[in-house]
Amino acid sequence: MREITPRKIIEMKGKEKIVMVTAYDYPSALIADKAGMDIVFIGDSLGMVVYGDESTLNVSMDQMVYHTRAVAKAVKRALVLADMPFGSYEISLDEGVRNAVKLIQAGADAVKIEGGADHYELVKKLVRMGIPVMGHTGLTPQRYLRLGGYRLMGETEEEIEEILRDAKALEKAGAFALVIEFTLSDVAKLVTEEVSIPTIGIGSGPYVDGQVLVWHDLLGIYESTPPFVKKYADLKSMIQLALEEYRNDVKEKKFPGQDHYWEFLDKEEFEKKKRRAMERLNRSERNGEAE
Ligand code: KIV
Repeated sequence: MREITPRKIIEMKGKEKIVMVTAYDYPSALIADKAGMDIVFIGDSLGMVVYGDESTLNVSMDQMVYHTRAVAKAVKRALVLADMPFGSYEISLDEGVRNAVKLIQAGADAVKIEGGADHYELVKKLVRMGIPVMGHTGLTPQRYLRLGGYRLMGETEEEIEEILRDAKALEKAGAFALVIEFTLSDVAKLVTEEVSIPTIGIGSGPYVDGQVLVWHDLLGIYESTPPFVKKYADLKSMIQLALEEYRNDVKEKKFPGQDHYWEFLDKEEFEKKKRRAMERLNRSERNGEAE
């Protein structure tokens, strides 16, 4: 069992901010865990940042299981959370349960679903089975077609009511935390005050119990990022510079240098071995032809 459990995440509310980051492969997850993340999250954002899709709607259960396996192998301390992709939990309760089980069997400690009130029964059932669940309200990217794009949420009283209803339903169903994505900060603050479970914000301001960011956004792997992201590094430029240097080194015959290859110190010994190897090769080719 990993050190950070859903129970520990709940206990952090009001005491210590929760830090969550996405990771989609083994090396990134190793780094995220070593950097002291509380939650390492295999988000369905991988459809966009890893596979180059325009939305998360095409992400399959197979993709989520595949990436969850890689991340779970790396993480020793943080809680490993896996996203339920679009279409994997909405069709029936049974299908939702079956798919959540797949993610747990791939090594996740908990699953995340988008929405709240609509999935009350599923969350309750999963929790009763022993599968910890995180909810997600505010901007829910799996519903971006209905929402009319990736936009700020919580401006109208209807939206505030819906967000609050989701949060309260998740709390009642036994979810251990919820993500609040891209809402006005007042709305995120209200939700944080209204529920006993931790709220984890993304683009929703500081009045929440924790923050989550997408790996590629915070590390500056793409030029364009959502407006609420703080870029902590410019890896795109660093990687590009490194690749250009490598290219130039190869073209200019500077790589591999003497530290990067091995040769026979005794050239006579090599000549002898070469002669014998070639004789053996010729013999076996002649024998092959004779057959
Ligand atoms: O898939 C994802 O990365 C997410 C975060 C934006 C919370 O759901």
